[in-house]
Amino acid sequence: MTAIPTTMKALVSDADHTASVHTDVPVPKPSPDEILVRVEAWSLNPTDWKHIKVVAPPGQIIGCDFSGTVVAAAAAAGNQKSSVKVGDRVAGMVHGGKYTDRGSFAEYVKTDADLVVSLPPAVDSLTGATVGIAGYTAAQALFQRLALELPSASATSLPAVDGAKKVLVWAGSTAVGQWAIQLARAAGCYVVTTASPRNHDLVRDMGAAEVYDYADAATPQTIASKHPDLRLALDCISERGTQSLAVRSLGASIDSGKVVVLLKPEADAQALRPGVVAIEHTLIYTCLGHAFSYGKAAFGEAQVQADKAFIERFTADGLFAHLWATGQVRGNRLRREGSGLDALVPALALLEQGKVSGEKVVLSA
Ligand SMILES: NC(=O)c1ccc[n+]([C@@H]2O[C@H](COP(=O)([O-])OP(=O)(O)OC[C@H]3O[C@@H](n4cnc5c(N)ncnc54)[C@H](OP(=O)(O)O)[C@@H]3O)[C@@H](O)[C@H]2O)c1
Repeated sequence: MTAIPTTMKALVSDADHTASVHTDVPVPKPSPDEILVRVEAWSLNPTDWKHIKVVAPPGQIIGCDFSGTVVAAAAAAGNQKSSVKVGDRVAGMVHGGKYTDRGSFAEYVKTDADLVVSLPPAVDSLTGATVGIAGYTAAQALFQRLALELPSASATSLPAVDGAKKVLVWAGSTAVGQWAIQLARAAGCYVVTTASPRNHDLVRDMGAAEVYDYADAATPQTIASKHPDLRLALDCISERGTQSLAVRSLGASIDSGKVVVLLKPEADAQALRPGVVAIEHTLIYTCLGHAFSYGKAAFGEAQVQADKAFIERFTADGLFAHLWATGQVRGNRLRREGSGLDALVPALALLEQGKVSGEKVVLSA
């Protein structure tokens, strides 16, 4: 095995809200419950460019999603649920842009041993990297915040669809939406979604039972009329009025409903059906088990530990790996944008400029 170096290359935030490849970044030192992963592939998320442009102070390693090979196992392995060991292929996510020693756009990344997905042999590194932010967010939103029943940990094929378990995935062609459709379908849900017409085949193929054009002003009313019992939704855009569209799509006859949103709750959406439809914000970084602040919001120890324990069902307990190995999920549709750290900034510009539709931008390291 090659020795682990003391320094590495990484994409790091600079003083002027840009980021560049630094060549002398210390290789992260894992704490006793963490592993060190040699990164082999990245998938890109809107949060990466938002951290560069807005959130990250200088000196933070950028990047959340990764896949790669474990090069140092957790020192306190006996305290972990997971049994990942040196040489295993894993994927996961960290809060890139928040720390000087914890970001995925680097040659090595450290992360909690219980928070990685063991990749089945049939899942290649690029596809594996898509599970990060998008997959974990979909799992947290659907099964923790909306409290849908989890997919089976033992079934080896997709279950029958249960028409009584309905969920709306607003904006199903997004990276989070694609994962949400697949996971909800694996849980036996009847999935209603929206997307541009060019992506209708994609979302149907991922398991949606019905798809509508989100740009058609009649869509919320159409969905609400067809599904008077629809009470749960995940809004995968959550800005520019989509929260209200999701609220208006829920059935008129429900006495309680919930829309989970990925960005700040919008006041006009909250005002639409007060006391009936709750809007709940979810933020995936809470699953990482570290108390932190984000803008004006603070997330304390109790919440981050509860959210970590929940996502461990998908990571350390193996639900993501099982669903992948049995072909019940297959990750995002890929868009390959080259390789190496130098290719990351131009690839992130595609996301920022809205030039990505129904695809996940991935790069090999
Ligand atoms: N809170 C959290 O923890 C969390 C986690 C993950 C993501 N996010 C946020 O969630 C958002 C989505 O992230 P992502 O990575 O899933 O997105 P993405 O894949 O980059 O989104 C691209 C897709 O957005 C769709 N889209 C654009 N405008 C739309 C609209 N007005 N209505 C419906 N769909 C629209 C497009 O669909 P068509 O091509 O079909 O038109 C396109 O396929 C971002 O703002 C991200 O920062 C938050």
